[in-house]
Order: sequence, then C-alpha cells, then structure tokens
Amino acid sequence: SQTFSIAVIGGDGIGPEVIAEARRALNAALAHEDTTLQYTDYELGTSHWLKTGETLHEETLESLRAHDAILFGAVGADPQDKRIPSGVIERDLLLKLRFELDHYINLRPTRTYPGVPTPLAAAEDFDFVVVREGTEGPYVGNGGTLRRGSEHEIATEVSVNTAHGVRRVVADAFRRAASRRGRLTLVHKHNVLTHAGNLWRRAVEEHAAQYPQVSWDYMHVDAATIHMVADPQRFDVIVTDNLFGDILTDLAGAVSGGIGQAPSASINGEGTAPSMFEPVHGSAPDIAGQGIADPTAAVLCAGLMLDHLGLDQAAARIERAVHTQLSQWAEQDTGQGLSTTERGEAYVSRIKALTD
Ligand code: NAD
Ligand code: IPM
Ligand code: MN
Repeated sequence: SQTFSIAVIGGDGIGPEVIAEARRALNAALAHEDTTLQYTDYELGTSHWLKTGETLHEETLESLRAHDAILFGAVGADPQDKRIPSGVIERDLLLKLRFELDHYINLRPTRTYPGVPTPLAAAEDFDFVVVREGTEGPYVGNGGTLRRGSEHEIATEVSVNTAHGVRRVVADAFRRAASRRGRLTLVHKHNVLTHAGNLWRRAVEEHAAQYPQVSWDYMHVDAATIHMVADPQRFDVIVTDNLFGDILTDLAGAVSGGIGQAPSASINGEGTAPSMFEPVHGSAPDIAGQGIADPTAAVLCAGLMLDHLGLDQAAARIERAVHTQLSQWAEQDTGQGLSTTERGEAYVSRIKALTD
C-alpha cells in the first residue's frame, strides 16, 4: 500500500466550494485501491491575510514543500473589497508558490466533449494543450514606479526571459507534442517584442532539430486569439510565455464550453518540489457563497493530480466520469441550474460506477 501527502489550499470565494467536490471525487476514485491520500488543509488567502496580516509564512512554505502534491482552489479578493490591495494575495501567495516550487510548466489542457455546447458556431470537437511558462515573463515582479503621482510618472513591468527558462519549457512542449498529434505552435509577439520573441524562436528551432516527428509553426498572439475562435481544431500543443498563456487559456476555457471546466497543473518538471493542481479560473466573487460554481475544473484537476502521482487508472476514472456525465447532461438537456454539490455528486456516482 502507498500513501501520498496532499496539501489542500481551498483559498477564497468559490475555491473551497469546488475543492470540496474535488476531494470527494478523489476519495471515490481511490475507494478500492490500496492507496491513501493524506490531506492537510491550509487556511491561506484573503481571510487569513485579514486575520493575521500574513500571506505565506516561510514555515508554511517549507511545510507545503514536504508534500507530494498541492491541490489549490483559487485566491483573490473581490475587487469591490477595498480592504485588500490588488495583487497582494496573488503575488505573495499564488505566484510565490509557483516561483518557489519552480512550477515552470503551467499545463492547461483544453478540450470539448461530444455534444457539450460551446459558444462557437462550428460544433466540431477539439483537443489541445497550452504549455504556459510559469516562472518568468512579466510575472517576475521586476517593475517599478518613478515620479509617482506626477504627470511624469513612469510605470514599468519588465518581462524577464532566460535561455534556461525558455528552453526547459520548450523542451517539455516538444515532448508533449511528440506523444500527441505531433504539432507544436509557438505563440508570441516577435514583431514587437523582438528580444524575447527571438529567444523563444531560437529555442523552438533548436529543439525542432531533435524532434523530426513534430512539425511546428509560429503565430503572433493576437492572431492566435482569432484562430482559437475560428478554427481551434488546428492546435495540438501551444507553447507560450507566462502572460500570453494566462490570457489565451481563459479564452480557451470559454470557447471549449466554459471556464468552470478548465483545469490546470503547475508542474515542477524535475520533481524537486511538489506540483500544484489548480483550476484556470479564479475565486469568482460574483458567484461565491451561492453554491452554484461549476466544480468540473477542480474535479479534473484532481484527475491531473492522480495522473501526476502515477495513479493513472484512478485518474482515468475521473476523466471518464466527467466526460460521460457532461455528455449526458448535454444530451438530456438536464445540466442547467445544478448546484455545485449536485454536479459533484453526479461525478462521484459516475466514478463509483466505474470503480465497483
Ligand atoms: P474569475 O475566473 O474568478 O471569474 C471570471 C468569470 O468566470 C466570473 O463571471 C465568474 O463567475 C466565472 N467563473 C469562474 N469560475 C467559475 C466556475 N467554476 N463556475 C462558474 N463560473 C465561474 O476571474 P476574475 O473575476 O478576473 O478574478 C476574481 C479573483 O480571482 C481576482 O482576485 C483574481 O486575481 C483571482 N484569480 C485567481 C486565480 C487563481 O487563484 N488561480 C485565477 C484567476 C483569478
Ligand atoms: C491564473 C491566474 C493567475 C495568473 C493570477 C491570479 C495571478 O489568472 O492562474 O490564470 O495570472 O497566473
Ligand atoms: Mn488567469
């Protein structure tokens, strides 16, 4: 028998609501296996900050580091809540975890499910994965303000791209493309961001030589938003920087059937620290506390986590359960107006049916 230690950070808003369902799915998926997940809950996020003034204590970080994986809901204040300055929790908790734990692969798979409606005109299914760089770009916090408040104020946010950082995520994207449909798209904006764009392009060209079975192309990020709406079937693996990947994956979530269905994994490719599994969406203050958030993304994150831990059969059960349930709701037109727990319960019974 084996035991994995899982740190759980529900966070703010709908975070804890959807993570509760992810946990029920995990327990159901492992019910008959000789594997135990040992959960430790961490109370982190805005309420913890309001209570203690602390975002992430050094000791808490070290304790998180000792786990096999982290299951993360969402953090972030309601923009209406003036007590919490924008970005404090995001930067000092979420991004800090991604940076400290070296989550350089921010994996964001996107797919449609047969029959499940999307906002797109064409009903054709698609399936691609965005490999978003997770530790660099404009996210490094390397900016500043000069002459604050004056007419001559200057605000900068410098995007940092290192050869090491770019190459390792490009290498990961090529590996994924080779084991999928063999197509890689580099998304950037090298017509304007020439320095970073050039580094990314060289990294892709260098790796392309090692992967003759992968064909690659390049797309400017603005054009990529058109193609993601007009013909998303063209994508297999997209590799891109931290900020472009952030924006593109909200779009990807929306066009594939809803942001509430979009999972992500923040992966430490070397396994030197725990990887983190978190929906693409945020704390959704507009629907928090109403019990109506879609837990699908969080449940799929649970599947990604199991897969990452090598528990591929249990992972497949979650994936299959979500797939069949979403298709059934669509076919019978019974998916609307369900609560978070009703959705979670439906997934759990599907998983149980696959387990028993
Ligand atoms: P958001 O993703 O929280 O919400 C955007 C829209 O999508 C809202 O209308 C929301 O109701 C809807 N939505 C999101 N998740 C949903 C779900 N599971 N089911 C149904 N509808 C869902 O983005 P936002 O409004 O820009 O950000 C809110 C807060 O969350 C901010 O403080 C932001 O910084 C933070 N945020 C955190 C994360 C994270 O923790 N990983 C990610 C994104 C945003
Ligand atoms: C995401 C979020 C985060 C990001 C924010 C909350 C820091 O939008 O996970 O997509 O920009 O990476
Ligand atoms: Mn985002």
